[in-house]
Amino acid sequence: MSLKKRDLLFVAIVAAVFAVFYAISGDIKTARVPYDDNHKQYLAVVQSDGKMAAEKFCGECHYTGGLAPLPDNQNHKTPSRCLICHKWEER
Ligand code: HEC
Ligand code: HEC
Repeated sequence: MSLKKRDLLFVAIVAAVFAVFYAISGDIKTARVPYDDNHKQYLAVVQSDGKMAAEKFCGECHYTGGLAPLPDNQNHKTPSRCLICHKWEER
């Protein structure tokens, strides 16, 4: 039996699903969004307008050369959905 293109696509989709589960599983390696003066106003935005609305602001400080640059790794290649991976710090 040989692997067809469609089978490979299926495998890729399953792998992607597991990757997302892993990312959102609250793994302790994923830094939490601090509950501090730089961030707490965005938790309010999450509660009123949702995660995507809040994520619009993250790039104001988190960019190369900014106040708090993003790690240069695979997790931040397309860093538009910060809050899918980053949970909020307990407060
Ligand atoms: C006003 C500037 C600013 C904005 C806007 C901002 N951040 Fe930050 N962020 C910082 C600074 C400065 C740090 C590093 C110091 C600290 O831990 O507070 C940081 C740290 C972090 C950390 C790492 C904490 C750690 O443990 O090292 C995460 C994760 C993070 N921010 C996520 C976000 C997300 C997600 C958003 C959008 C909802 C966001 N930030 C918006 C300034 C900002
Ligand atoms: C695919 C999941 C994922 C996405 C999406 C993501 N991150 Fe991260 N981020 C991580 C993980 C895992 C770490 C901890 C390991 C590392 O440094 O990459 C991290 C680390 C960080 C750190 C550094 C914390 C430290 O201790 O230095 C900051 C700041 C940060 N992320 C901010 C953001 C912001 C802002 C966004 C959206 C623009 C974002 N991340 C999107 C997974 C993600």
